[in-house]
Amino acid sequence: MEGVPASVCNGPMHIDRIDPADLDLDTADAIAALGLESQRHLGLDVTTLSGPARLKLYQHSSDGTPFAGVWVARDGEKLLGYASAHFPTRDNTDSAHLSGAVAVGERRTGIGRALCESVTEHAAAVGRHKVYSGALEGSDGVGALSRLGFRPLHTYAINSLDVHGTSRDRWQRLYDDAAAVAEGYELVRLVGRTPDERVADVVALFDAINDAPQPDPDAEPDRWTADRVRAYDEAMAARRQTVYRVMARHRESGAWAGHTVLCIDEFDPVVGHQEDTSVVRAHRGHRLGVLLKADLLRWIADERPELAATETWNSVENHHMLAVNELLGTTLAARYVSMRRG
Ligand SMILES: CC(C)(COP(=O)(O)OP(=O)(O)OC[C@H]1O[C@@H](n2cnc3c(N)ncnc32)[C@H](O)[C@@H]1OP(=O)(O)O)[C@@H](O)C(=O)NCCC(=O)NCCS
Repeated sequence: MEGVPASVCNGPMHIDRIDPADLDLDTADAIAALGLESQRHLGLDVTTLSGPARLKLYQHSSDGTPFAGVWVARDGEKLLGYASAHFPTRDNTDSAHLSGAVAVGERRTGIGRALCESVTEHAAAVGRHKVYSGALEGSDGVGALSRLGFRPLHTYAINSLDVHGTSRDRWQRLYDDAAAVAEGYELVRLVGRTPDERVADVVALFDAINDAPQPDPDAEPDRWTADRVRAYDEAMAARRQTVYRVMARHRESGAWAGHTVLCIDEFDPVVGHQEDTSVVRAHRGHRLGVLLKADLLRWIADERPELAATETWNSVENHHMLAVNELLGTTLAARYVSMRRG
């Protein structure tokens, strides 16, 4: 990019920007190892992505748009730190999302600042002055990002569920109780790519999440279209993410009322990542949240016996969803503070 150097040098340390199309698996593995070390250092039980999963994420994101870059800080061959940046293209085109880490033994020597500046210069050069980032509570990241000019926006609870350690009867009971209340609804299960005849319904169900608490009132909500659903499906397939979705339909009117989505990363299929759960406003108050999620767990436990845990992120203000998750047996693994600069 004109005016922004692809490489920055500070003593023996070099920062290079790598285009995701040129990222090799060895470098992605080294980034994954650094991310894992950083997480273990904190002693929190939160999942981190493997090298192959990162490589595919940087190349495809969640809608086929590659990340704007992966910046690596190295001393010779040794990886000291990295940062990745995603620039949304379907909405929030003034924004950038930054994430990264510095090796535990190399912190507080200026590497994080240098990486952050490389990314923000690159973002500013294309008019992206709002930069979002965040860190786990209790990590060095919250203090460092504050020093780097970021302010806290919102806190998320990261909950995990021990799938093998939770009795299936628990989900069955919750399912039965909720089904008795939601007798006017039926459930439909979908795996993988959305069939053509369901795309418009899935658009409406993705959109239904937009009245969940927004971390930044200044940000545009995600704008869903048929094209975006297709792009999401393609990106998830390219990333080897198998998408399991349970949808609820109102029997009498045929209207779609809600859905819940879980992705299993086939590079590491022991953990499932809970994505959206939403119930369309007009259909709230019928226990559909519990019904959908209990059914998903009953299904997944049979279908994917290797799945040992699921992980779900929710705003700490989303009391309804947190209460549903607790009923299902999740426990708090960590809290994440989202932050913004600009
Ligand atoms: C966030 C992180 C990348 C910072 O890396 P770093 O190389 O230690 O950062 P720097 O040495 O450049 O420090 C940047 C500023 O933050 C300050 N800082 C660093 N760690 C800090 C801490 N734990 N508490 C308070 N301030 C801190 C530094 O003093 C420096 O301020 P200054 O330049 O005004 O003196 C590193 O702590 C990390 O990897 N954390 C875990 C992953 C994470 O939370 N990532 C979130 C960012 S995407």
